[in-house]
Amino acid sequence: MKPELIHQIDPLRAAVAGRRARGLTIGLVPTMGALHAGHGRLIELARRECGAVVVSIFVNPIQFNQAEDFERYPRTLQADLDYCGRLGVDLVFAPDEREMYPGPLRTFVNIEHLTDHLCGAFRPGHFRGVATVVTKLFMIVQPDRAYFGRKDAQQLAVIRRMVADLNIPVEIVAVPTVREPDGLALSSRNARLSAEEREAATVLYRGLEAARQAWARGLRDADQLKQIAREIFATRSEVRIEYLEVVDAEMQPVAMVSGPALLAVAAWVGTTRLIDNMPLEP
Ligand code: PAJ
Repeated sequence: MKPELIHQIDPLRAAVAGRRARGLTIGLVPTMGALHAGHGRLIELARRECGAVVVSIFVNPIQFNQAEDFERYPRTLQADLDYCGRLGVDLVFAPDEREMYPGPLRTFVNIEHLTDHLCGAFRPGHFRGVATVVTKLFMIVQPDRAYFGRKDAQQLAVIRRMVADLNIPVEIVAVPTVREPDGLALSSRNARLSAEEREAATVLYRGLEAARQAWARGLRDADQLKQIAREIFATRSEVRIEYLEVVDAEMQPVAMVSGPALLAVAAWVGTTRLIDNMPLEP
């Protein structure tokens, strides 16, 4: 079955309201399209847990801090619709820029502290753009549940905190990272890698996994854990590390791992920026 494709806010609200009136719970999966099996895992879970599933597809200009990255971002609406159809999605909401931002925006949602490190430090304004568009999507769809991937761990932490701090009545569901057989985390940006870069990029997972194993054996010193990952990253000259950090649940760097923590990395492989992370938790 083809999902219903809706480009505008009012008809989307009406389509959702009809389903809510029939007693269906509403699940939202926010995406920027170019859907892959990582998005697919979120959609499948939403399909299992909710009466109606809405997938939003919107390449959100205000979260890109490089115009070029925004322009190069893959747009594959037809294939995305087919994929959503195969997964039993009810509604695809694909607004254009004018529908989401009809005039200059004067209201933004800013999450402090959790955005001081990792991607927050290297992509100024990024999480402000993410939090603002996700708030708009929550207000437009008013879902019971919304699904986010652990692949974007800082984004997940930011959204969870925003929902708690602002009492937004939505349950956030976190989904583990989906990987290729060789460990590379699925990402819409992987399509930009050359064959050689694609192979080099596997050091990210291998480095993180080696550090996780050391952590599982009892190593708690963050510098030593990072060193283990770094040695594996360094085996491929195509990979330039932007940051590598061990952070706590509030996304603050720690010297020693004492509670739930995350080893997070961002790297440039050629002109493509990739992120990945490994939870350090039992
Ligand atoms: P996008 O990069 O399209 O990702 C949409 C959702 O899919 C996010 O929650 C992301 O964490 C999840 N996802 C992506 N790759 C994944 C993988 N390999 N395994 C598991 N989940 C994965 O994230 C965004 O879009 C945007 O910032 C958005 C939240 C839509 C706001 O514009």
